[in-house]
Amino acid sequence: MKGLILSGGKGTRLRPLTYTGAKQLVPVANKPILWYGIDSLVAAGITDIGIVVSPETGGEIEAKTGKGDRFGARLTYIQQTSPDGLAHAVKIARPFLQDKAFVMYLGDNLIQGSLGNFLKAFQAKTLDALILLKSVPNPTAFGVADVDAQGRVLHLVEKPSQPPSDLALVGVYLFSPQIHIAIDQIRPSARGELEITDAIQHLIDTQKPVEAQTLRGWWLDTGKKDNLLEANRIILDEYLGASAIAGTVDDQSQISGRVTLGAGSTLVNCTVRGPVIIGQNCRLENCFVGAYSSIGDQVTLTDIEIDHSVVLAGARIEGIRQRIVDSLIGQRAQLTMAPARPRALRFWSAMTVKLS
Ligand code: TTP
Repeated sequence: MKGLILSGGKGTRLRPLTYTGAKQLVPVANKPILWYGIDSLVAAGITDIGIVVSPETGGEIEAKTGKGDRFGARLTYIQQTSPDGLAHAVKIARPFLQDKAFVMYLGDNLIQGSLGNFLKAFQAKTLDALILLKSVPNPTAFGVADVDAQGRVLHLVEKPSQPPSDLALVGVYLFSPQIHIAIDQIRPSARGELEITDAIQHLIDTQKPVEAQTLRGWWLDTGKKDNLLEANRIILDEYLGASAIAGTVDDQSQISGRVTLGAGSTLVNCTVRGPVIIGQNCRLENCFVGAYSSIGDQVTLTDIEIDHSVVLAGARIEGIRQRIVDSLIGQRAQLTMAPARPRALRFWSAMTVKLS
């Protein structure tokens, strides 16, 4: 079985962050989102993995992620010249997939738990598609499935105004090579994309075995800022181990809870309340860093308080006198401030900001 991770697309919902980088490389707990998907496939025994990339961000994704050694996998990069839909991505990956069954994983999704049981069910029942579903409060925003009591999928509908259920399609799918035949039969949707839901519906309409299983753990589509902060909170909560301090902490600093401080990083007169992860070669001076914050590599923080936020690599934040909360600060962003008044600040920025 092969893996196919879709890591192209436009990333419009994460702008302006995605002007300076691929959304699949945005870190959650200092690890690119895409890498969680790779790890999840490898943990399920799938090591031959294709990664669909766009011409704009493919080079950056490949340079950062590499050929797969660090994951124990073999990664093949497949360029999709324009983001013409999830089924289009499968279509252009066909030379890589050949006639193998495969797991398709959306590169900006995170799911909890192992894929092992889904793989077993797919193989044991010789299905042509197994989709994962999750009950959501707002099904109108998702692809939604109508499923019978045996788990057979009857009908799929994309962002329905009258949802047949509250079961949204999670961004992980298992397919037999039959999906290629279905994709060859479908036409672009009203939004001009080849939809994977239409291809799966084609399998259903031609009486192919398509089943669904419900995901018990959490699922996050990190395409939006709030989901990213939520993903960061969950991952820090569940996966950050006991404190690991590789950097230097002066006598005036206080650390409590689980805190990771990367090599070459320095804390001077700081209070850090975990769970918090701080990358390598950072300098933090006279700062408070509150729970559920992730600070990337080479970040400089001076005279600030920050809480429940993600700061990307190379950012510099200085002298902001009000606490920064629920914020996502972009790569190499610069935030400085003259003496001023507001009580709390929320940033959603990949740019340079000077407040006065
Ligand atoms: P989406 O989030 O559905 O699409 P998008 O990346 O264009 O994002 P936005 O809505 O913010 O503009 O894509 C899900 C995943 O699939 C994501 O990792 C990008 C990837 N993808 C492709 O690789 N090729 C495609 O043609 C599309 C549409 C998405």
